[in-house]
Amino acid sequence: MEKDTLSVNTAIEKRDEISELLYPLLASTYALYLKTQHCHWNVVGPQFYSFHLLFQSQYEELAEAIDEMAERIRALGSFPEGSFDTFSKASFIPEADKPLSAMEMIQALLEGHEALIQYMRKHLPFIEGEGDGATADFLNKRLVIHEKTAWTLRSTIL
Ligand SMILES: [Fe+2]
Repeated sequence: MEKDTLSVNTAIEKRDEISELLYPLLASTYALYLKTQHCHWNVVGPQFYSFHLLFQSQYEELAEAIDEMAERIRALGSFPEGSFDTFSKASFIPEADKPLSAMEMIQALLEGHEALIQYMRKHLPFIEGEGDGATADFLNKRLVIHEKTAWTLRSTIL
């Protein structure tokens, strides 16, 4: 990632490393946003309308998180790239390789949220240890939301 040329004096020594950790999370959150919107468009079945609305509320929430995460990377002094190409290379969310049934969509989205949760839990100790409480607070708030969304999706599986 490109870095700010102006100095960033915010008392976080490893802010570049923290940005590098946030970028795959940004790309993966974007991938899950797109996947959720795709499910909103294409879900079929007797529960169409409730799933259609559920997926909409989830992708709208993810869109806000993406914006906040990219802006956190800017506050840390890096420039997050935003092309489909760079996102698809950095994302750890797998692409669907076939059309999915409604239950397969729920399962795929659940796995996506759990992958984001696992990544955040893995890297939070480093971020906290470097004294970046602002990023840690943001990620802890994301964890609450992703775990609630995962529970919602899990509870939908028959
Ligand atoms: Fe829509």
